[in-house]
Amino acid sequence: MSNLNPVRARLLGRLTALAALTVACAFAGTANAATGEENYAKICAACHSIGGGKLVGPDLAGVTTRRTEEWLVKFIKSPKAMIDAGDATAIALFKEFNLVMPDPQYTEAEIKDIVAYLATKSGAAAVAPTPPPPPKEASPAEIARGQNLFQGLERLKNNGPACNSCHHVKNDAVIGGGVLAKDLTAVFTRLGTPGINAILGTPPFPVMAAAYAEHPLADDETAAIVGFLQDADRKQELQKPADYGMKLVTYGAGGLVPLFALYSLVWRKRKVGPVNAKVFDRQVKGGDDIAQ
Ligand code: HEC
Ligand code: HEC
Repeated sequence: MSNLNPVRARLLGRLTALAALTVACAFAGTANAATGEENYAKICAACHSIGGGKLVGPDLAGVTTRRTEEWLVKFIKSPKAMIDAGDATAIALFKEFNLVMPDPQYTEAEIKDIVAYLATKSGAAAVAPTPPPPPKEASPAEIARGQNLFQGLERLKNNGPACNSCHHVKNDAVIGGGVLAKDLTAVFTRLGTPGINAILGTPPFPVMAAAYAEHPLADDETAAIVGFLQDADRKQELQKPADYGMKLVTYGAGGLVPLFALYSLVWRKRKVGPVNAKVFDRQVKGGDDIAQ
């Protein structure tokens, strides 16, 4: 190599790299595991681990050995479509996890890249999933702060929207929230600390992701909100959310009567007749005089 001039050496280097890339591509089909890994981290890692146990969705270690590539690509593209089409595996998974994985809005090529990446990690199946450590209990102060953050009484540091602009939680102390997204009263039982943390870290739902893309939550805020959701979940049976329906009408009508009584008492010296009653009376009397 030492007798090559630098330009030639560089050219040779590039050609070698190109050849290596071609060979690598030929091995992996056209899929690119590196792009797959990037895209996986963006969305999928919020709900899945590879060899770390269940999060919101199943552990994906070894998934490329338990399912065919064709099934995986179709399933990941639209889990809901697979369930609707009656695919037995998709239905069984849905029954087990009780949540339909959202369509990730990736193209088929991007999904193939992700599957290629999952295939490179299939060895992870050998690793026994370590159960996540038991979640630390939030202190009452943290729970109270989480509640304030949830309903926007305390502003989020990065100015993200309050959770209750889209979500509701059944809790006496909380003003009714939005109905755009799911009621979060029992979400803790279903997703636990790791699941909620994952969702708040990288929201996998387009609407929520858009809301927090520029305004991420701080770790201490996430911890406080998770603490509040755990507390709300635990206490939900004790809550008696106010039923405003007929009560509001009845109490309203009932309240009017004493209110009117009070008005007439306080204002009893008010003029009863029209302002010009006296003038009118005089005129009428005058009229009578003329008539007589
Ligand atoms: C909001 C959480 C969530 C996100 C985000 C998510 N998944 Fe899922 N995933 C689930 C759930 C829950 C299931 C169980 C099946 C069901 O109920 O739809 C599942 C199932 C799967 C399965 C089937 C596993 C098996 O054992 O056969 C694969 C594969 C999968 N997801 C891959 C992905 C990939 C790849 C992404 C990113 C593009 C992703 N998931 C994003 C929640 C999620
Ligand atoms: C702009 C609206 C919006 C805001 C604000 C928002 N979310 Fe969401 N969130 C959603 C949508 C949409 C979903 C998707 C599931 C659904 O349709 O309910 C979701 C899903 C979730 C889920 C998963 C629910 C489940 O049962 O699978 C959790 C947990 C969650 N949000 C927590 C929060 C918390 C905590 C906050 C406040 C820091 C928050 N969200 C703020 C729109 C929002």
